[in-house]
Amino acid sequence: MKTYTYKKSVALFDRAVQVIPCGIYGHLSPAPLVPVEHYPFYMARAKGARFWDVDGNEFIDYLCAYGPMVLGYNDPRVDAAAKAQLEKGNCVTAPGTAMVELAEALVDLVDGMSWAFFAKNGGDITSYSLMVARAATGRKKIILVRGGYHGVAPWAQPMGHAGIMQEDKDLYLYVDWNDFEGFQKVVKENRGQIAGFISTPYHHPTFQDSVMPAEGYWKSIETLCRKEGIVIIVDDVRCGFRLDLAGSHKYFGFNPDLVCYCKAIANGYPIAAVVGKKEVLQVSRPDTKLGSIGGFGGVIFGGTVIPSLRSWAQRRCAMRAQRFSTPGVTGTPRFPWRRRSRVSRSSSASTLRPC
Ligand SMILES: Cc1ncc(COP(=O)(O)O)c(C=O)c1O
Repeated sequence: MKTYTYKKSVALFDRAVQVIPCGIYGHLSPAPLVPVEHYPFYMARAKGARFWDVDGNEFIDYLCAYGPMVLGYNDPRVDAAAKAQLEKGNCVTAPGTAMVELAEALVDLVDGMSWAFFAKNGGDITSYSLMVARAATGRKKIILVRGGYHGVAPWAQPMGHAGIMQEDKDLYLYVDWNDFEGFQKVVKENRGQIAGFISTPYHHPTFQDSVMPAEGYWKSIETLCRKEGIVIIVDDVRCGFRLDLAGSHKYFGFNPDLVCYCKAIANGYPIAAVVGKKEVLQVSRPDTKLGSIGGFGGVIFGGTVIPSLRSWAQRRCAMRAQRFSTPGVTGTPRFPWRRRSRVSRSSSASTLRPC
């Protein structure tokens, strides 16, 4: 049996650490997990479900690049759509038609949502969703689930990480996953001050097993948040379009105000989206100029993915269905994916226009 060796990977890693802090970023760095001599650091190429490292070793990539590559590397349909858009123009002064089409597709697809807005990665869109919640409520504080991951912005990182100040965390309150009583207590102690609750639809903390929501958990959260005027934000960056095309909230049976997407949208191309209820926009508009959401960072690569968005999403759900019963995932998921029938946007369009 041939044993893999990683001479070139290690040599490249040695070079990298001279010019890149840690050589490879964050949790993508193999160093904290596996001895450096037993891990492929740098890839040479990838195709379908496989990649080849710089030493010529071949791997089946069950990690899917930490989430987005659910159609496999270099999917020809996605790449053709990206190439076609590149030939028309990549970063242009005015947005393209594809942005509008993608917003329409998401509004049609995701249950209960009336508008969509785009950014380039998951952390941008979760940060942005907090701003929307604050604008909508005129409140400052946000509830987070302990151990949840929402990106690298200071608000999203735990205390104790280098560069994170107590002031970065002052407006954040923490609850444990599935602990509705604890959630109630935090809400009671901060009544009238909480803008939003951000959480993944099921708990998938870094380096730990995933945990499904307890029976009735999301419904109880929803009822309390409605009563207290707290915006519910689902961070579906990692599991979006994998449980139900209409949203993980549809799958778990509750109604959030904002849903954040990223990884599963574009098979590795950098795009993220938040979709929202029109009420959030309506409430926030008079004093916050939420119309300027259109100016937030611009739309990057947004158009390239549209032609195959729906077929990707369907395929992803199917793939996810096969893969979901991985060790560590508790609960028994069902896979009731379906496409929502097209809804009239006339009323929401008139609501959004004057922003
Ligand atoms: C649930 C969740 N939210 C947000 C993010 C941040 O996304 P990005 O790395 O694209 O900024 C991630 C990334 O893994 C994630 O898993």
